[in-house]
Amino acid sequence: MKITYHGHSVLSIVMDDGQKILFDPFITGNSLTDLTADEVETDWILVTHGHSDHIGDMVPIAKRNDATVISIVEICSFAEKNGVERTHGMNIGGKFDFPFGRVKMVHAQHSSGYEVDGQTLYMGEPAGFILQAEGKTIYHAGDTSNFGDMALFGEAFDIDIAFLPIGDNFTMGPQEAASAAKRLKAKQVVPIHYNTFPVIEQDPEAFVKLLPENVGKVMAVGETIEL
Ligand code: NI
Ligand code: MN
Repeated sequence: MKITYHGHSVLSIVMDDGQKILFDPFITGNSLTDLTADEVETDWILVTHGHSDHIGDMVPIAKRNDATVISIVEICSFAEKNGVERTHGMNIGGKFDFPFGRVKMVHAQHSSGYEVDGQTLYMGEPAGFILQAEGKTIYHAGDTSNFGDMALFGEAFDIDIAFLPIGDNFTMGPQEAASAAKRLKAKQVVPIHYNTFPVIEQDPEAFVKLLPENVGKVMAVGETIEL
């Protein structure tokens, strides 16, 4: 599979058989991204939580591509109410085998509301995803603090690559993310959710220096790695 970083928490994966997956499609208003909301192609959209910098362009992208939204049940229900035809609701601790691989929804310590017309909608609990496909394991942590149960994820899964937020202010910062990385025992760790807004400005290379040698990897926006 090929994994590409698109700035903030946006990732895309193209599987060997051509299926396309998009994580947290925040494109409109994302100052870092290389994607265009009305051009991006995907079959599946995985959304970690309901904040606007994660749900982003989920609805129009899903509609235009006839893609399936995979998220917590409340976000799937929101997507359906907004005209998305294909959704697959999950909840924390559950896993499901999709045509592209197995997805486990795990908890994240954060919040999850979405503002519409001045009202905050409850969008379920925030989550992370552990994807197992083509013999590899990928963890997208969503927005989260550093929490002890990441050690359980590290025991239960042989994580090849973990995408961890380092921006601080809304999530854990570099020090905590380095401590989380240690407990996850991921072979490779890529920082996400930084430098999009002034309050989450961080030096990703400084974060990489907090990790054991050859574990941390800063992905440039638009950069692709093959797993
Ligand atoms: Ni958030
Ligand atoms: Mn966020």
